[in-house]
Amino acid sequence: LPYEEPRDFAFSFDGPAGKWDVQQLQRGLKVYDEVCSACHSLKFVAFRNLSQIGYDEGQVKAYAAAKQVPGIDPVTGEATTRPGLPTDYFPSPYPNAVAAAAANNNAIPPDLSLITKARGDGTNYVASLLSGYQEPSAELLAEHPEAAPGPGLYHNPYFPNLNLAMAPPLSMDGQVTYDDGTEATIEQMSKDVAAFLTWTAEPTLVQRKQTGWPVLIFLLFATVLAYLSKNQIWAAVK
Ligand code: HEM
Repeated sequence: LPYEEPRDFAFSFDGPAGKWDVQQLQRGLKVYDEVCSACHSLKFVAFRNLSQIGYDEGQVKAYAAAKQVPGIDPVTGEATTRPGLPTDYFPSPYPNAVAAAAANNNAIPPDLSLITKARGDGTNYVASLLSGYQEPSAELLAEHPEAAPGPGLYHNPYFPNLNLAMAPPLSMDGQVTYDDGTEATIEQMSKDVAAFLTWTAEPTLVQRKQTGWPVLIFLLFATVLAYLSKNQIWAAVK
């Protein structure tokens, strides 16, 4: 079926000199927190990791403490929940995969920690997917009647088989209220949460890019040095 390649959103961390936009990562966290976390886990991210995107120790503690994580009752030994600690990981919204599937028309919402790595051009893909829900076009349906969304499925041209079990999670402007005053359009929220999920998938992305520059300068310097020593070593040979 004909699906669309992701749109090219311009992100601050694109390119060799890319950098995180910390405000944007914080906005993205808010979108994840208020919208996506109802269905998607983020199991490879610990609350303490949020200190890397501009939160201090007190804020991390407070954020963690406001979440319930799985725990064990110290008296009865039974499974229970307790307020999170900075060392805990983001909890899953469902107790298990069966419950997750039952709540979502048999589709299990994937963990989002690595989703931008698991899909090609993942950052742009996530932003395109979230902002790209639309009715299937008449031409598409004429050519591919099977592309009509079945019951409980939603059409999205960026999803490779064109229909998915996730209802548009970002469905109106202003769904989230940003602390920095940025206008929360669907497009903006899509971009911000895609940026946040790029950070969860590769928190060292900017460091990796920045490491390249000293390496290049060193290699250039080493090349000049090698050339000069070659000249000196062979100077006597005419
Ligand atoms: C799938 C992101 C909110 C339920 C997905 C996928 C992504 C995603 C990237 C995977 C698409 C793929 O496989 O390529 C998000 C983000 C959200 C969000 C960033 C918040 C803005 C939600 C919510 C629900 C939900 C609130 C439940 C009400 C699902 C389900 C799937 C899915 C069931 C699997 C769909 C399928 O395979 O047919 N989501 N999601 N998502 N999401 Fe979400």
